Amino acid sequence: MTVLVVGSVNADLTVRAPSIPAPGETVLGEDARVSPGGKGANQAVAAARAGASVALCGAVGRDPFREPALSGLTRAGVDLSGLHHLDAPTGLALITVAASGENAITVASGANARVTPAHLPADLRGFTHLLLQGELSPEVTREAARRAHAAGLTVLHNAAPARTPDPDLLAHTHHLLVNEHELAAFASAFASGGEDVAGQARDLLAGGPQAVTVTLGAQGSLTVTGDSAYRLPAFPVTPVDTTGAGDTFCGVLTAWLAQGHPLPDALHAAGVAAALACTRPGAQDAMPSREELAAALAR
Ligand code: RIB
Ligand code: NA
Repeated sequence: MTVLVVGSVNADLTVRAPSIPAPGETVLGEDARVSPGGKGANQAVAAARAGASVALCGAVGRDPFREPALSGLTRAGVDLSGLHHLDAPTGLALITVAASGENAITVASGANARVTPAHLPADLRGFTHLLLQGELSPEVTREAARRAHAAGLTVLHNAAPARTPDPDLLAHTHHLLVNEHELAAFASAFASGGEDVAGQARDLLAGGPQAVTVTLGAQGSLTVTGDSAYRLPAFPVTPVDTTGAGDTFCGVLTAWLAQGHPLPDALHAAGVAAALACTRPGAQDAMPSREELAAALAR
């Protein structure tokens, strides 16, 4: 195994509807679909499909949602020896997808919120990269980053969904991945003086990371490091369902870096994979295979 993901596992209950309901509104949608999700599991599957050898540490319950939640991880060959089965409900995400492809998500964390530092793997030997998100408790995510940092792994942290930024976690992060909304949360928490996205991202380098990537949706992505900046345009697609696109970006980027590719190539592959994932319904179900990604990159 080279990539370790410490993160959430959910079953996604998705309804397509003409629009996302406003507070107090009811909209009539299509039949509900249950599919595998959770930002941790999604990123693990994306990394595995991109050719990395991946293990996931997290938790599910012993209820009927466990099987659909784990189905994508199993199919992708993710090592689940660090998965815990707890007496709590499996994480469940209630998702509405609008005709525009945009979504609104409410997560019932269940077993994900019961993961503690005691569940973390005792031995990190063999792993080169740790990939984290924001759907486990902050204590677990921080402790995973600390231990991996001390053990010499490269720590990538996707600070999604937006929560109160944690300076200790940032200090143990090598590569921070955020969208514009999450970047704004960091900028206001740390009273960063940066005026635009690039300036705000650059300011965060002082807090620990060697690289900060901001995903910009249809505008592509921007990455700053101590001495460079990379602006990658988006790969043009017509979005059907953007659920899991950010997760695809993070998983593929990590897989490519773990396989020794230079940062600009890894960013390009991640952006193309994320765009392809928007063209099909679902999160993991929509992620490109290694072959499909290679074909798109060759175009
Ligand atoms: O990032 C998309 C994911 O967020 C969904 O799969 C859902 O489970 C939530 O965790
Ligand atoms: Na999708």
